[in-house]
Amino acid sequence: MATPLLLRNSPTFWTLHHSSRYRYHSHSPLSKPTPLSFSSIKMEASEITEEKLNVKKKKIFVAGATGSTGKRIVEQLLAKGFDVKASVRDLDKAKTTLSKDNPALQIVKADVTEGSAKLAEAIGDDSEAVICATGFRPGWDLFAPWKVDNFGTVNLVEACRKVGVNRFILISSILVNGAAMGQILNPAYIFLNVFGLTLIAKLQAEQYIRKSGINYTIIRPGGLRNEPPTGNLVMEPEDTLSEGTISRDKVAEAAVEALIHPESHYKVVEIVSRADAPNRSYEDLFGSIK
Ligand SMILES: NC(=O)c1ccc[n+]([C@@H]2O[C@H](COP(=O)([O-])OP(=O)(O)OC[C@H]3O[C@@H](n4cnc5c(N)ncnc54)[C@H](OP(=O)(O)O)[C@@H]3O)[C@@H](O)[C@H]2O)c1
Repeated sequence: MATPLLLRNSPTFWTLHHSSRYRYHSHSPLSKPTPLSFSSIKMEASEITEEKLNVKKKKIFVAGATGSTGKRIVEQLLAKGFDVKASVRDLDKAKTTLSKDNPALQIVKADVTEGSAKLAEAIGDDSEAVICATGFRPGWDLFAPWKVDNFGTVNLVEACRKVGVNRFILISSILVNGAAMGQILNPAYIFLNVFGLTLIAKLQAEQYIRKSGINYTIIRPGGLRNEPPTGNLVMEPEDTLSEGTISRDKVAEAAVEALIHPESHYKVVEIVSRADAPNRSYEDLFGSIK
């Protein structure tokens, strides 16, 4: 596959592609790449090389890339023509989980509990946005949810600040603010908090992001399923949904679409899927959330 080339020319971005797949984006550096005849930008591909222009490609950094949702996010980003920096804890696992030999995919090793300095190094100066799909792995460490879902996410936000990344998409969960919603006796709220205060840890991280000044989209899905999507997406404002499920494919799609649509900026959305829901565009869905 040919390598995309992104040229920063603030406030606009040029995205060129040797196979003519990309076009000029006038509003957002993260706009969805769309097909365009290469001749329309009046340049010969052969005249332009990354080396000549001395610029680095911008990528989407995905934390938790070997996870069940994270790997789907990576796949969908690649399918949409983004370059991806997949952040993993285990390089061997990444080899079996993520697509091989794709020049648009770079794999980096990072643990979100190891502090923001190391994460900043991993994010580097060639990442445009961060998508966080991490979640603690159940084990003997009762503090794992706090370390990963709270401090780990905070570390990622701090790392973004260090390297100047100003776009952050977090996969959180419905019911994080269950106590304020009157859902303190909801079995899911009790279960997830009994084990390491998981939802409270996530809520703390959300609050940190919202105060950080970074351009965020916090996506709170209902119960995750591995099966392919059924029904249509329901998107509601924060602290609205207290039940429902959704395919991980759909959560990944929503995260990628959040990158593309400015209507998602500085928003918290809750998502599930329902058979009787109308089929709406992401622009409409994100746009309907205040
Ligand atoms: N399960 C549900 O029904 C549900 C519902 C709503 C929201 N959520 C949330 O949605 C998100 C995605 O869930 P999922 O089930 O798809 O995730 P998952 O399969 O459990 O994957 C979690 C990912 O986080 C990574 N991770 C764990 N600790 C880490 C650390 N210290 N440093 C860096 N990475 C670390 C894991 O790495 P390894 O692969 O190396 O272990 C893995 O890639 C999570 O935040 C989860 O809490 C889940």
